[in-house]
Amino acid sequence: MSTPLLQIRNLHKSFGSLEVLKGIDLTVQAGQVIFLIGPSGGGKSTLVRCVNFLERPTSGEIIFNGQTMCQDRTGGHFTAPDKLLRSARSDMPMVFQHFNLFAHRTALENVIEGPIWVQRRARSEAIEDALRLLGEVGLKDKADYYPAQLSGGQKQRVAIARALAMHPKLILFDEPTSALDPELVAGILETIRSLADAGMTLIVVTHEMGFARKLADVVHFFSDGRILESGPPERIFDYPETERLSEFIRTILR
Ligand SMILES: Nc1ncnc2c1ncn2[C@@H]1O[C@H](COP(=O)(O)OP(=O)(O)OP(=O)(O)O)[C@@H](O)[C@H]1O
Ligand SMILES: [Mg+2]
Repeated sequence: MSTPLLQIRNLHKSFGSLEVLKGIDLTVQAGQVIFLIGPSGGGKSTLVRCVNFLERPTSGEIIFNGQTMCQDRTGGHFTAPDKLLRSARSDMPMVFQHFNLFAHRTALENVIEGPIWVQRRARSEAIEDALRLLGEVGLKDKADYYPAQLSGGQKQRVAIARALAMHPKLILFDEPTSALDPELVAGILETIRSLADAGMTLIVVTHEMGFARKLADVVHFFSDGRILESGPPERIFDYPETERLSEFIRTILR
């Protein structure tokens, strides 16, 4: 196999005395679609937030695109070359459960924010790109709408267009459909599926097990700060090896 796009090695994260990530190892090849599933509070969001540097890990390594972020030599803070810190948010944007759009900016302004301020691209070029992307996610006519004037599904499409506007290498999704009305879920899942079909590398945290089964290359079952089982979806869902995963599958199918 070629060099992984993203490699996480023995990653730990504590909040005070609470150890939330207890040594995570995870490898993502370019073009792979990775799903993280598991019970609430297991640390899934904390992991994807560490990958995006919204949280600083306590120890371990994150190697992205050949560059390493790890603890400094004194065993203190997590550090990384500036280039990596800067590129992480650009190259691995995140789509959140609650959209996290700027409320006082239009859909278009939300989408061009990163390209202009983080990537220093020309405004006219960023706008042209953003309008194309808003069209691709079905929001051609909503560019000048504010988030409050959009449905949950439309807000999430803006958030997806915003991620795509960075021309990312990988997109992180943290429960992108959990805050949506049931009738809006299928449309967002379809949008994510089309990204996967186009070859985008994805890490998706979700409770949509049917979706994970259909789309995943690899499913990781997360429980209590550890990855307990990993494998292709058929293996994870049909032949769970641990009692914890069997129990989780029984609970969600109930
Ligand atoms: N900023 C924080 N400060 C303190 N504790 C935190 C913080 N963020 C998360 N935690 C704790 O870390 C643990 C894991 O939380 P996390 O949100 O990563 O779980 P999760 O697997 O995403 O759960 P869910 O499926 O409910 O979203 C929880 O016990 C949570 O209370
Ligand atoms: Mg979460």
